[in-house]
Order: sequence, then structure tokens, then C-alpha cells
Amino acid sequence: MQVQLDMEGALTARDRVGIQDFVLLDETTETAFLSNLKKRFSKDLIYTYIGTLLVSVNPYKELDIYNKKQMEIYMGVNFFELPPHIYALADSAYQTMLTEFNNHFILISGESGAGKTEASKKILQYYAVSCPSTTLLNTVRDKMLMSNPVLEAFGNAKTLKNDNSSRFGKYMDIQFDSQGDAVGGHILNYLLEKSRVVHQNHGERNFHIFYQLVEGGEDDLLHQMGLERDCQHYNYLTQGECAIVSSINDRNDWKTVKNALQIINIDEINTNHLFGTVASVLHLGNVQFDSDSKGHALLNNNNAELRWVSNLLGVDAHSLQEGLTYRKIEAKNEQVLSPFTTDHAIYARDALAKAIYGQTFTWLVNKINESMENKDNSRKTVIGLLDIYGFEVFYVNSFEQFCINYCNEKLQQLFIQLTLKAEQEEYEAEDIEWEPVQFFNNKIICDLVEDKYRGIITILDEECLRPGDASDLTFLERLEEKMGNHPHFVTHKLADKMTRKTLERGDFRLLHYAGEVTYCVVGFLDKNNDLLYRNIKDLIGQSKNAIVKECFSSTDPDSRRRPETVATQFKSSLLKLTEILMAKEAWYIRCLKSNESKQPGQFDEALIRHQVKYLGLMEHLRVRRAGFAYRRKYEVFLKRYKPLCPATWPHWRGVPADGVEVLVQHLGYMPNEYKMGRTKIFIRHPRTLYATEDAYERCKHELATRLQAKYKGYKAKGEFKKQKEAATKIETCWRGVQARKERDKRAWAVKVIKKFIKGYINRGQLKNTDNSEYLAFVRQNYLNRLKGNLPKTVLDKTTWQTPPAVLAETSEILRMLHYRLMVRKYVRGITPQKKAQLQLKLLTSSIFKGKKESYPQSIAQPFVDTRISEQEINMRVLQTIRNEHIKYGVPVIKYDRNGFKPRPRQLVLTQTAAYVIEEAKIKQRVLYTSLKGISVSNLTDGIIVLHITCEDPKQKGDLLMQCDHLFEFLTKLCLIANKENSVKVVQGSIKIEIQAGKESAVDFSLGQEPMVFKAKNGHLMVVATRARTR
Ligand SMILES: Nc1ncnc2c1ncn2[C@@H]1O[C@H](COP(=O)(O)OP(=O)(O)OP(=O)(O)O)[C@@H](O)[C@H]1O
Ligand SMILES: [Mg+2]
Repeated sequence: MQVQLDMEGALTARDRVGIQDFVLLDETTETAFLSNLKKRFSKDLIYTYIGTLLVSVNPYKELDIYNKKQMEIYMGVNFFELPPHIYALADSAYQTMLTEFNNHFILISGESGAGKTEASKKILQYYAVSCPSTTLLNTVRDKMLMSNPVLEAFGNAKTLKNDNSSRFGKYMDIQFDSQGDAVGGHILNYLLEKSRVVHQNHGERNFHIFYQLVEGGEDDLLHQMGLERDCQHYNYLTQGECAIVSSINDRNDWKTVKNALQIINIDEINTNHLFGTVASVLHLGNVQFDSDSKGHALLNNNNAELRWVSNLLGVDAHSLQEGLTYRKIEAKNEQVLSPFTTDHAIYARDALAKAIYGQTFTWLVNKINESMENKDNSRKTVIGLLDIYGFEVFYVNSFEQFCINYCNEKLQQLFIQLTLKAEQEEYEAEDIEWEPVQFFNNKIICDLVEDKYRGIITILDEECLRPGDASDLTFLERLEEKMGNHPHFVTHKLADKMTRKTLERGDFRLLHYAGEVTYCVVGFLDKNNDLLYRNIKDLIGQSKNAIVKECFSSTDPDSRRRPETVATQFKSSLLKLTEILMAKEAWYIRCLKSNESKQPGQFDEALIRHQVKYLGLMEHLRVRRAGFAYRRKYEVFLKRYKPLCPATWPHWRGVPADGVEVLVQHLGYMPNEYKMGRTKIFIRHPRTLYATEDAYERCKHELATRLQAKYKGYKAKGEFKKQKEAATKIETCWRGVQARKERDKRAWAVKVIKKFIKGYINRGQLKNTDNSEYLAFVRQNYLNRLKGNLPKTVLDKTTWQTPPAVLAETSEILRMLHYRLMVRKYVRGITPQKKAQLQLKLLTSSIFKGKKESYPQSIAQPFVDTRISEQEINMRVLQTIRNEHIKYGVPVIKYDRNGFKPRPRQLVLTQTAAYVIEEAKIKQRVLYTSLKGISVSNLTDGIIVLHITCEDPKQKGDLLMQCDHLFEFLTKLCLIANKENSVKVVQGSIKIEIQAGKESAVDFSLGQEPMVFKAKNGHLMVVATRARTR
């Protein structure tokens, strides 16, 4: 997994993952450069920046950094905010294009197998995902994506360096409209390596399409084209002796290509013609020559191959044969046929094969362009992708390497111009004084190659066109003549002794900006001429194969003019390319190959050092570093380093630039170490930045603790606030609820009170709606009150709640009921004894109530059965009276009739008589029949007078006595003797009959103390006290 550190953040991790931007390397040595690259490579970090240039090292393994998620991470993010990635570069170019509405190009360079084509595909894929899409746009997008497999089939081949090596230079414009939609595309191709069609080195293959056709082509198709499903059958496919390669699946690729051809709108007829030309090349390769006795070339017996060629190209077989074995020379309006030697014939055949294939390739590019073309001609901005061969240095370097290295020289020149221009523009924009940068300007080498009058290409062309016996060696001589003392040119002849040892006689050496390259001149003239004999050219110009016909039928009226040489064509296409690129903003990707054996995880230091050198990376770095190594917007710089200065921490309230100034002053930056631009700070040396970064790292820990504490505080505060808010909310709600309840209650109360008042006002009326509730309330209220305050005893006549008017009657009824209830209860609770007692008391009441003063006190005193038990009565007396049934006995004081002497006696009542008993003597027997009356006073005394009939002289007189249980005794007596009507309550005095005819009296009066004495008048005087009132 990619280490997810942002650019600034990665400064802290620089020891672990290396530096993400070489500009910040402490020293600009190759060793430091390589060690950083290696550190990163070991962590699968294959991308590193040099400023905005991206260095990419081929990992030779699938990395999980090209998925959609990764793409999304990089979309619209500032270039330096995330770790280096090809997506960051692609996105930056795209965003800048959109905001500044200008054109851009991304130059991808590196040696074969370094990953250029992969990089360009990744960029295309990124745009395919990140750009807005509609059905229409998707079609364009698909065409752009699908142009790749087609061009790779026709333009790529397996080489020793790369199983899918691009054998042409490619520049592709992606056109965007102002919304950023990809609306079209255009491809320019450069210098297809046509020689591969006819010759492959050992271990290499021809272009993929040949194998794909033979291996994957449908039986019908092969039959139709006279092909056999066997690569070994074709001379053009067998020279490298590796037609089948494990890493390549030709059959599958064939299907992909056929599908892709459809998508890029190549119809069936054209597709057939296209494969026809491919097949014709294969047949052509099998055309063999013998030589006749004079050494002239003859077509050997196998005419079948030639017929297939004529068939597929739609040309006359005989003319074709003639074209391959004779040269037509025009002299003085006469045409002479000059026979070829076999070598010549082979040369002509191969030239034809190369021409057909080369032109077909160009045709294909044009077709792709047509299909991707954006018809709408409103203004577009473009991003160009240049996938071009890097510097090539082989053991033997030929014309192709010369062209390629020249191309790289031109691109380096372009880079220097653009970089310096950009740098200068930035300085200007930031108001910083421009300081001239020391670097190697390679214009001198470019001039050496391309100068119109003295350049190598001009001299080469001159040699090619010169009549006479020009050869590669004469070309070398001409070079030596013209370039004699050029500092960047040397040959065996021109070299000093030491250098001469390293050079062959047929070599020349150029001191390129990236290093020296020695070229062998052999083949330069032929390759530059790239001649196709006119008669054969004219012949296939009439081809019935539409593609071939289109490619070779010249519309140029002066078609007889000699075509431009390859080098000149290349030179002018490069100049055109330079012009195209100069008008755009540049982005660079430099691809490095990690090892020769295509193995993952291997970092071949020597190989990479070589590439670093030839890609001019150190030179690039030096240019980038010439002024200021590091620059950042004030905001960004301040944001990161503000903790280092108390004045800027935690917030700088002013303008960021001022903040940065205060900060760097605090950090002690020397005036020559930095410059303050308009929007950015420029720091000259990385070490200044690192010192700052290290200080930041130290301070971060301290800061982290502080931040943590702050954060915790903040969080707690937040939590508290939240809780408080919640509490307030709940409180408010609760209060609301309460208030609403209270309000409802009050409203209800008001209603009730109103009703109550209304009810009260109308209480006197008959029950109606206004007073019914009130009355009910009053009723209930009264009844409730009554319930709690009922009289507890029958005797309690006072306790009774006063009823409201409406209940007056009810109350009375209730009262009655209640009393009845109480009485009933009382009565039910009464025992027979108590009943008897009460009956006695009732009798007592009927006799004495309201008459005798001591009566009320007597009520509470219960009556007993007797006060003298039978045992207390003398036996003798008992025997005498027992038959009469003793009912009651009570001790009394009997007063003598004469002298009123008090004598204690027992008074016993039987069924028939009352007896006065003194011990064993019955002193007096009073028959009830002779008892004529009973008198008592109205006072509190206990005096009783029994009036006895005195007709019988034997009878003593009235019986006068005092009894403590007066009411009990008299009641019993009345009951037994049936004398209740005989009792008299007398006021003042009672007359007594002492004897028959002799009377006295008992007088009663009130006094302080009770007394009984005989008064002077002879009466018995009884003094009673006032009854105690309760
Ligand atoms: N980013 C990458 N991740 C994984 N593998 C890669 C990557 N880039 C390149 N490769 C591997 O390296 C091989 C060669 O890459 P590529 O074809 O892009 O090289 P090139 O620079 O275009 O070479 P040439 O100049 O020969 O065309 C690829 O087929 C692939 O296996
Ligand atoms: Mg490639």
C-alpha cells in the first residue's frame, strides 16, 4: 500500500521513505539522487518529483495504486498536497488547463521498457474516469482508449528490451471543451522503425500484427489471403527466432484489435484491405530470387508467393515481377530497363515491403484521427501526450539512434527554454529579481545536427543527392571536413591519441548533453534515402487495394521530384513538433527502467545511473535548483510552521506574508537564504528548510500534548454545553408542560368558581342548570361533613350539623333515622339484666324525675339486686320470713318515733311485707296492704316515711328512716308492693303519725351541712345540702 503522507508531511518521514521532491535533496550529486530513488523504490514508491517533473521507476509488477479510489483521491487536489503520483501530474495539467484556459503537453521520455507507454495509458485512463461523461463523450473516450491497441498492434514489437516496445514516436492531443469534457483527439506519429518489417535481431519480433493475423486470424480469412497458420512459414517472422513469446497472447490480442478497429470506425472493406496489405508484406518476404549466369536476379520457381502479392495488392503480377527485378531508367525521353543483381532485387523487395507497411501505418493513424476528430470548431484547449523514445546508446549506434538522440537533444533544448521561461515568469510574477542560472545550453549540439548549411543532416542529404559514388565513408569524410574543430564532434581522424583508441575508422562521436554517443556511419546513406524505385512505386499506385492505392497515388503534379530524405523529414517534423510544444505549457515524466531482466524489486544501480545521466535528470535538477530550491504560498508555509513562533501561534491575525516574515525572523533566516515574493516565500537551500522542519518536528510533540489537552478541554466543554443545553431544553419543556397544566387548572378553577358563585346566587331557586351542580356540591359537602360529625351517643342531642336550606328536611329525616339507628343499636346491645335495671330506672324516673333534687345524681348509679345477702340475715329471722320470698334487703337508719333516736336496722322486703330487723328480732312487719303512702322530701336527703294504716292499735305508727339507697329501695318497694302511685314528694315538711291519733312532723330545710336532729318544736329537723350540679 502506498504510504499516505502528504508532501509536507513526508518531509518528516524523509529518512524512511526518502524525499518526495529531489529539489529538496541536501546535495545535488548523482549518488544522493540514486540513494533517494533506491530508498523509495524499496518501499514501492516509484514516483518522485523534481519540482513539477515526475520521475517514475518501472516496478515490473502490478501496484495497487491505479484503481478508481486512487484516482478519486487525486482529483482536484493541489499538486504538492499528496505523495507524488502520475495522477497528480495529470490532474494538475488538467486543472491548470481549465482555470487558465491554455494548452499543455506532457512529455514522457525514457529508454525502451522504462514505462512510457504505460504511463501515457495511465494518464488516458485517468482522464477517462475523471472527466465529465455523456454518451457522446464516452464514444470519443472509447475511441481514444481503443486507438491504443490498434496502434500498438501495428507499431509495437517485442524487442530485447521490451516485449511491447513502441517502434514509433507518438504525440497525441486530447482536446477539451471549456467544461473540461474530452471531445476529441489527434495523433502525430514519428519515425516508425520500418526496417523491422524486413529484419529483426535475434530474440526480437516483427510488429505484433503479423503474428496476430497468422495466429488469431479466422480460417476463412487466412484462406482468402493465402496464409498459413504457421509463423515459421514466413521469412519476415522468423529471423529473430522467437515468433512465440510467453508474455504475449497473439490470439487474444487479435480479437482486441478487431474489436478496436470497429470502435474507431474502420469498416469491413477497409479492414479487409488493411489485413490484405499485412498479408501482402508476409508474402513479399517469401519472394525469393535466383541469379542467372550474368548475376542478374531472377524470380525463383515459387511464383505462388508473387501471385498472392499481386492478388492482394491488386496489381499485375508480371509488372510486379518486372519491378522487383529491373530498374527503369529514363534517359532522353527513353525508358531503359536495367536488370538488378539478386542483392538489389532483395533490396527492392524489402524497400517495397517497408514502404507498404510504413504507408499503411500512416494511413491507419490518419483513420484514427478522422474517427477521433472533433467536428465542432469552437475553441478547444488541449493536453498533448508525447510518448517518445529516450536517449539510446547501444554498442553500435546507427542512423536510427542518431535520429532518436537528435530528437532528445531538441526536447532537452525545449525543456531548458520552457523551464527557464517558467522560472523567470514565476520570479516576475512574484516580483523577485531574476538571477541568471548557470546550466549547460545544448543549442550548440542541436545546431551541429540541424544547421541548415553546416549541420550533419544537411551534409548527409548532400551526400545522398550527390551524383557520383557517394558512400557512407565519403559522408564521414565530408563531416570531418566541415566539423573539423567542433567541440562536440570527434572522429577517429580528428581525435587525440587517447580518444582515438575508443573510435573505429567508420565512427563519429557526438558529445550530447546527456553524454557521448558513438555512431557507426554504415547504412546512413541508404537509410536516409529510403528509396523505392519509381517503376514499382508507380505500379502499386494503381493498386486495387484501396489503402495501398490511397497511400501511393501521388497527387503531386511534380511527383517525379525526389522525395525528402528521412532525416530531413524527421528534422522538419521535429521542428513542427517543437513549435507545437513551445506554444504549450510543459509537464514532464521521466521513466526509468529498474533492471534489464524485467524483474520486480531489482534496482540495478549501474543501469539507473546510466539512465539518470542520459535523461539529463541531474541537469534538470540543477536548473530547478539554480534559483530557489523551495517555494510555497505564504498561507501553506505559515499553516505548517506557525507553531515555531509565539507571535504566529496559534493564529496569525494579519496578512500571511507578514506572518511568514515574523516567523522566519524568529527562526533566524539569513537575508540571502530566502526571498519574499508576492504570494510565496522562496527558500534558497534545502538545509534551511530542513532546519525549520526539524524544529517543527521537535515542537510537534510538545504541541501534540498541548493540542490534546486543549482538545480534551474543548470536547469536555462541548459535552458540558450540550448537556446544559439539553437540561435547559428539558427544563423549558417541563416548565411549559407545568405552565400549561397550571393554566388549564386555573381555567378549570375559574369555571368551577364561576359556576359555584352562580350556583350560590341561585341556590334558593328550584334545581336548574345554573345551580344543579352547586346544590349537588352543597348536598355532598353537607353529607360529608355530617358523616364525620355524627352524634356518638343517644343522649347527645346537641351534636348535629346545621343543614343548608335545601337539606333542612332531609337533615331532619336523617337525624331521626340516625337516632333511631343509635337507639336500635343501643337496644340491641342491652342484656336482660340491663333491661330489668332500666325498667326499674324508668319506674324511678316516673316517680321522682323533676321532683326530688338528688334524683339526677342517682341515675348513673346502678341498682343492685340486694344490699343484704341472705347470709347477713339472722338465721332465726330468715327462718321466719323465708317463706315469703326475700326480694330485697338494705341497711337503714331508723328513727324512733319517740325522740327520733337513730337505730341501724336491716330492712328486708319480701313478697308481702317489709321487715325492720335488728339482729335476731323482727322489730316491725309492715304488710303492703297496710302501707298507705310513702313520703320523701324534695331535697337531697335520704329520709323516707312509710305511712302505715293505724286502724290497728297493735300497729306501731309511721316508719321513719334514712336510707343511702333511697331511690333503689323505694323503686323496689313500689314494684314489689305495687305502690308507684303512692309516693309523694313533699316540700318543707312531712306529717307523721307516731301512734294512732298522735302526730309529729319531719321538717326539711337547706343548709351548709347535712344534719338530722330533733328540733325544739319536737319535730325532726333534716338539713340537706344543695344537690351538686354537674
Ligand atoms: N507503472 C508500471 N507498473 C507496472 N508495470 C509497468 C509500469 N510501467 C511499465 N511497466 C512494465 O514495463 C513494461 C514496459 O513498459 P512500456 O511498454 O510502457 O515501456 P516503454 O517505455 O513504452 O518502452 P518502449 O520505448 O520500448 O516503447 C510494460 O509492459 C509493463 O510490464
Ligand atoms: Mg512504448
